[in-house]
Amino acid sequence: MIDLKFDYINALDVIDQQDVIDFQKQINTHYKSLKEGTGKGNDFLGWAELPNEINEELITKIEELAEEIRIKSRIFVVIGIGGSYLGARAIIEALSNSFAQLNQNDGNPIILYAGQNISEDYTAELLKVLDDYDYSLTVISKSGTTTEPAIAFRLLKNHLESKYGKLDARDRIIAITDKERGALKQLADEEGYQTFIVPDDVGGRYSVLTPVGLLPIAVAGFNIREFIGGAIKMKEHVESTSYIADNPVSAYAATRNALYNQGKTVEITVNYEPKLFYLTEWWKQLYGESEGKENKGIFPAGVGFTTDLHSMGQYIQEGLRNVFETVISVEKPKRKLKVPVDSKNLDGLNYIAGKRLHEVNHMAETGTTLAHVDGEVPNLRISIPEINENTLGQLVYFYEMACAISGYILDVNPFDQPGVEAYKKNMFALLGKPGFEKETEEIYNRLSSEK
Ligand code: PA5
Repeated sequence: MIDLKFDYINALDVIDQQDVIDFQKQINTHYKSLKEGTGKGNDFLGWAELPNEINEELITKIEELAEEIRIKSRIFVVIGIGGSYLGARAIIEALSNSFAQLNQNDGNPIILYAGQNISEDYTAELLKVLDDYDYSLTVISKSGTTTEPAIAFRLLKNHLESKYGKLDARDRIIAITDKERGALKQLADEEGYQTFIVPDDVGGRYSVLTPVGLLPIAVAGFNIREFIGGAIKMKEHVESTSYIADNPVSAYAATRNALYNQGKTVEITVNYEPKLFYLTEWWKQLYGESEGKENKGIFPAGVGFTTDLHSMGQYIQEGLRNVFETVISVEKPKRKLKVPVDSKNLDGLNYIAGKRLHEVNHMAETGTTLAHVDGEVPNLRISIPEINENTLGQLVYFYEMACAISGYILDVNPFDQPGVEAYKKNMFALLGKPGFEKETEEIYNRLSSEK
């Protein structure tokens, strides 16, 4: 039984239930084409079967290696960008103590990230930190040629080798990459690094249930079997019924498209738990890269409440009426904390003294939802009983499947990302990459004519 629930009752001021139900026939067709591999991007459907296909041998290998890393490393650096970064970070941050980096005695390595930007300050400061700690790293790149992680890996590899010597450094590097192609695979083979494979038919943003996500999550000290178990639960549920009334994936995909058809072109994912910040970042990539093409697609945005009620709240309440919200609601926190009584009561808070913070947070959520609905912002709600490996596994599979179905409803290929090449072409031309001579000349002519 899945624990995740979805409801769209607070969207019914803007759409009718029938608008949602009208998608049923289309949705059935799209499940069928995903199953049979007849839709757009059908050479990238491996993610759909992943939860059942991760075998015991692979899980054990990941767990054993994670244990080795945990013993010898105070820090574990995850090098990657986009789909080779966000999934692991989303799950690790959601499960970690909010102040894990200060918590030196919990036995877990601190997970740091590199290669998700090209900032000189960020990378230099990271190297400085690594001078003082034992560390290992994983370099994750399916293509093996992505500029950002390649630069970071070059620097960290040099750092690791000068710190531990070439031989020891080798045992602290794990490469996660394509089976055959790519520079990283060649380097890993030549240097003798441990490697894991990203399956050919799984795109980066759908890869968190491969070693791309599973190794860092296991090194951080979390239970990858439970995580996979949650994904299996959701997969089995989705396969048991496609009915919008019973299947949250179908309902979410249908509702967001019904809203899109009414001019709601921006979806804001809302959390009330700061630990979910990176889950929203992962979701933004998944939906943005999958749907934003051919001049179509819902723009994925994210806010953290109540923090952003004091910044973005104004816009959401009264700005352009093209937004809807999807709240990820967590029913139960892990810890207990009550508002204390104060004899002076100068802040006037005694009326909530004795209440748990979660109750106050929950009332903020309910009050905000109603205010936004009154401000013509439809509100969808995904709720989970608590944040743990299993519910996160359910959420991941829920979001991935809904993304594929929703992309098919939009009639785009949800598994490619042709648009991300444009910036790369310009950057390579500006940097004078061999093979880009013509583009280099063109871009410098363009820049000088703009002066
Ligand atoms: O989802 C995607 O395909 C992208 O975000 C990639 O994951 C990202 O560009 C990194 O690619 P690679 O793993 O090849 O380095």
